[in-house]
Amino acid sequence: MNYNKKTVKDIDVAGKKVLLRCDFNVPQDKATHAITDDKRIRAALPTIQYLLEQGAAVIACSHLGKPKGEVKPELSLAPVAVRLSELLGKEVIMASDVVGEDATAKAAALQPGQIMLLENTRFEPGETKNDPELAKKMAALAEVYVSDAFGAVHRAHASTAGVADYLPAVSGFLIQKELEIMGGALANPKRPLVAILGGSKVSSKIGVINNLLEIADTIIIGGGMCYTFFKAQGANVGKSLLEEDWIEYAGQMMKKAEEKGVKMLLPVDGMAATEFSPDAEAHLVDGIDIPENMMGMDIGPKTIALYAEAVKDAGTVIWNGPMGVFEFANFAEGTRAVAKALAETNAITIVGGGDSAAAVAQLGFADKMTHISTGGGASLEFLEGKELPGVACLLDK
Ligand code: 3PG
Repeated sequence: MNYNKKTVKDIDVAGKKVLLRCDFNVPQDKATHAITDDKRIRAALPTIQYLLEQGAAVIACSHLGKPKGEVKPELSLAPVAVRLSELLGKEVIMASDVVGEDATAKAAALQPGQIMLLENTRFEPGETKNDPELAKKMAALAEVYVSDAFGAVHRAHASTAGVADYLPAVSGFLIQKELEIMGGALANPKRPLVAILGGSKVSSKIGVINNLLEIADTIIIGGGMCYTFFKAQGANVGKSLLEEDWIEYAGQMMKKAEEKGVKMLLPVDGMAATEFSPDAEAHLVDGIDIPENMMGMDIGPKTIALYAEAVKDAGTVIWNGPMGVFEFANFAEGTRAVAKALAETNAITIVGGGDSAAAVAQLGFADKMTHISTGGGASLEFLEGKELPGVACLLDK
């Protein structure tokens, strides 16, 4: 896939109406709808500020949650407009619809240097179907399309891809940065390239493991998915998470790594519990056989030392997925130790979005990483080497 895309700097936006797709899909408090993490709004600021300084009239848009084509007031982007306005120090005009009367009138009246926000694009049934009629209507609001919604580039939706059929389409600075750093790490990594893959399911990481087997020097496995790998080695996994259908595949992956000369590191010890609970007592299991009445919950101290050693001399480390149930204090140590190892290495450190990004932030290491992606699913698909529709639709350099 070609990552060399035109950016806002390659196009004249002065005096133009710019439709800017952001990923403002931010977490909110269920009861109060208060935004609990504004990282994605902050990440969009450089592009917004640049466009406003250039004298563009910015029509921002995003999805929020999964309203499935219906207007759901609890998924309104209005709280995002408030937060964005605070961060920009200027008014953000909120439209009450996406391409309806209000949005159309407000977009038509918008002046250079002003910014407005359309309502949740997924209030429109055509959004997730990539309906050309909806894409045309969105495009009609503006003269240029800028996408900075890295978190949503894996979606072929009307506002993330379809609209680029009707307007000149370029990337903002966030997409440019994500493509440069992650694309660079995959295409031309500073070696050794160490990939740390965690999370609960082998099935959700198959594409990434497959792609990284072609690129990485070392692949480190942790998290709930390691029990499927243990089973493939004939170990007992007790009550641990297990994907029966993927045992054979896990074995094949290990064999493939060996054939390709890729070092695959798996846990050599772990912390287990008799129940999945925040108060569960942690039991050290030396080796990979989990007692019948227990489930594996985290990697153990020997594994931590092994993984930290592999990270120490790396040129590049890509991390996606926690090492254990880090939400429970008794089982957060593996994830914390890996985050610490990343914080201490001189390697380029890249953290995929989603759970690993949340873990790094929660454990206080966020400012020690080279790059934390704003994309969860998007960064995963990027690491899988898949074509991303929201990037493919942008003009090539
Ligand atoms: C995300 O939060 O990963 C992106 O905003 C994409 O959201 P989606 O999974 O609802 O498409």
